[in-house]
Amino acid sequence: MQFPPGFFDRVDAADDAAFYAMPRLVTHIDDGAIAAVGALYEELGLAGTDVIDLMGSWISHFRPSAAPRHLTVLGMNDYELSENPMAGETVVHDLNADPRLPFDDASFDHATCCVSVDYLTQPVDVFRDVARVLRPGGIFVITFSNRLFPTKAIRGWLMSDSDTHCDIVRAYFESSGAFEPATAQLRTPLDQPGDPLYAVYARRR
Ligand SMILES: C[S@@+](CC[C@H](N)C(=O)[O-])C[C@H]1O[C@@H](n2cnc3c(N)ncnc32)[C@H](O)[C@@H]1O
Repeated sequence: MQFPPGFFDRVDAADDAAFYAMPRLVTHIDDGAIAAVGALYEELGLAGTDVIDLMGSWISHFRPSAAPRHLTVLGMNDYELSENPMAGETVVHDLNADPRLPFDDASFDHATCCVSVDYLTQPVDVFRDVARVLRPGGIFVITFSNRLFPTKAIRGWLMSDSDTHCDIVRAYFESSGAFEPATAQLRTPLDQPGDPLYAVYARRR
């Protein structure tokens, strides 16, 4: 799929390291949306497996009763990552500076990325490399809501509604050529007040 010119431009095109230098020990979605992420991870069978949480921080949203066997968390801020109680390993790595993941082939059973896919400027390269580090059949789970850092999100995301966000992530999976067809779902009930939680996920071929 061809993305239009300017789709991946951002208002703040400066190095991401500057924007994320200050730790933010906050939650970026409300309790209902966080619960929906944990329920999805459990439903998809991530409990008791080796997981890489991409673009992570101090909270990875797994239910304590359904934690991974080993959780690696990759993000931009070392202090945020050091505060993540589920992380067995943390890695500071800028995926916009280098979309290649610093891990061997087939290192993980599954991968997650919560409320952050909209900041990727080379997402198809990242998705292709996620497939490389996943074992066959591994699931890559993308979740997002309707809140973001507007200066750091790509223009194509800012100009789209939630249904189109699902289509954009589906297009990343398709364009990578490395995943089965993606599933897109609204995971929070329509009548639940607060942050909606959308998921788009697909299995590595
Ligand atoms: C809105 S926060 C979400 C954090 C966490 N996933 C969560 O669910 O709370 C965005 C995260 O994306 C990460 N991030 C932003 N740009 C990144 C980049 N270029 N490479 C890797 N991680 C990035 C930041 O470290 C930050 O923790």
